[in-house]
Amino acid sequence: MLTMDDIVREGDPVLRAVAELVTFPLSDEDKKTGQKMLEFLINSQDPEIAEEHELRAGVGIAAPQIAVSKRLIAIHVHDDNDRLYSYILYNPKIRSHSVENACLGGGEGCLSVDREVPGFVVRSARVTVEAFDIDGKPLKLRLKGYPAIVVQHEIDHLNGIMFYDHINKENPSYLPPDVTIYE
Ligand code: CO
Repeated sequence: MLTMDDIVREGDPVLRAVAELVTFPLSDEDKKTGQKMLEFLINSQDPEIAEEHELRAGVGIAAPQIAVSKRLIAIHVHDDNDRLYSYILYNPKIRSHSVENACLGGGEGCLSVDREVPGFVVRSARVTVEAFDIDGKPLKLRLKGYPAIVVQHEIDHLNGIMFYDHINKENPSYLPPDVTIYE
């Protein structure tokens, strides 16, 4: 199983690289990588396992965060209605997004960032994501709310973008008009 020792921290160039597309049919290695990433998220949200292995709770992870510069992410996140979005996504792509923006009132965090970075990270309120599952089948997800924020954060990792790149440098608490804030 993956532990925090496997998580690459900021400063490592792999987090600033543009990750490579995966090819299909997926290699066993690419399948295993995705499964390990999702398993890490599930473990990290289990209080007993997390405590035993000193895992920081995470709702999303991208392959570059375990030093694999390939385009795959995993999310394991509940929305406001307690619906679970649990996916391993290969070659995920944001096909379309809303004009409306949203952000988390408490800012964002990242398994690769061991410090608090205050400030609003403004993202699209809704996104349509196209990707392939572990069997190489195409899938399309329409996301809003917290899951939409999480998937945008993770896809950013595939393009070498960290969440704080989006924070206004002069005024981290600056918010453009009409941004929905999720508390
Ligand atoms: Co992150």
